Amino acid sequence: MINRQFLLAERPHGAIQEHHLRYNEADLPELTSGQMLVQVEYYSLDPSMKGQMEASVSYAAGIPIGGVMRGRGVGRVIASRNAVVPVGAQAFGFFGMQDFAVCTGDEPHFHVFDPPVNPQAALGVLGGTGMTAYFGLLDIGKPQPGDTLLVSGAAGATGSVAGQIGRIKGCRVIGVAGTAEKCAWLVEELGFDGAINYRQDDLTSALDVLCPDGIDVFFDNVGGDILDLALARLKLHARVVLCGGISRYELTGKPTGPGNYFNLVLTRSRMEGFLLSDYLSRFDEARGDLRAWFESGALKQRATVYEGFRSLPTALVALFQGANTGKMLVRSDLQLEAPQP
Ligand SMILES: NC(=O)c1ccc[n+]([C@@H]2O[C@H](COP(=O)([O-])OP(=O)(O)OC[C@H]3O[C@@H](n4cnc5c(N)ncnc54)[C@H](OP(=O)(O)O)[C@@H]3O)[C@@H](O)[C@H]2O)c1
Repeated sequence: MINRQFLLAERPHGAIQEHHLRYNEADLPELTSGQMLVQVEYYSLDPSMKGQMEASVSYAAGIPIGGVMRGRGVGRVIASRNAVVPVGAQAFGFFGMQDFAVCTGDEPHFHVFDPPVNPQAALGVLGGTGMTAYFGLLDIGKPQPGDTLLVSGAAGATGSVAGQIGRIKGCRVIGVAGTAEKCAWLVEELGFDGAINYRQDDLTSALDVLCPDGIDVFFDNVGGDILDLALARLKLHARVVLCGGISRYELTGKPTGPGNYFNLVLTRSRMEGFLLSDYLSRFDEARGDLRAWFESGALKQRATVYEGFRSLPTALVALFQGANTGKMLVRSDLQLEAPQP
């Protein structure tokens, strides 16, 4: 069988471009004892891929030039010499941008959904971004009923789940997103109490209207201006959750710092970053709660799906242009192989 792949061709400087990835076809190795072969059905596109392409982040090794592009996926085990994971299992893990991945199940983040779940949800509300929202909001944001929760990047994979968990915990939730359609989705379908289109609305006056008494919890995916404006509106003992800073990911220089940071002192507030990998030992707890909320309808899942393996570079570029509502995914166009004993 031929294994289609995308390899890292060049490290990006500034915006990611499609030519930073190179198409390749490789042969599949024979499985050795303990290994299994996963056929990937859906690929997850994540902003963190940029830092790994650049080799600029301390929490993950840089992808070598010519190496298979790293990324999460969900798929089926189609052959197994592993004593624990049988053929047919629905597997989640860092399978990379390729049709097939050989793994042992001992890799960090590898997980078998048993019983299987909606594969889009496996990478969205029940996947890495859902768990990021879960731990960031609950462990660091510590939302209380009646709190005003502001979420940036609110219509994306992580932000949409963070806001919905805030609603479940009794917060008043305001989202910031990049189009009118995204804002309408947040309010009309996800039950947010308000939404601000940062590309069109005047952010300062919109925050004054929607957060008139200030902000208790800010779940920040974006950084930059929105972080600074939120810092100016913190209530006493507020919590600022630094999940991400996508507004800086495509800059070549260092952005200026938030001028309103001193309000942390005046309001005795806390600003704290985190990484999902800090919580590896608690993934089962998060998946249990997220799955219960998802199955009860309290947590909704949406994805923007690009079709076909060859669309992976296009989808990755589009992620940074805000083309997604909810989780950004690519669905494989490869027919599912018949399981091999
Ligand atoms: N700490 C962790 O462990 C962890 C784990 C996962 C993700 N994250 C972070 O969480 C954030 C969201 O990740 P995600 O996977 O859920 O992606 P996502 O939000 O689904 O997709 C990215 C979104 O960011 C928005 N965006 C792009 N450029 C922007 C800019 N300059 N200013 C404001 N918004 C911009 C776009 O939506 P608009 O149309 O609204 O602009 C785009 O749809 C990222 O910062 C990511 O690095 C952190």
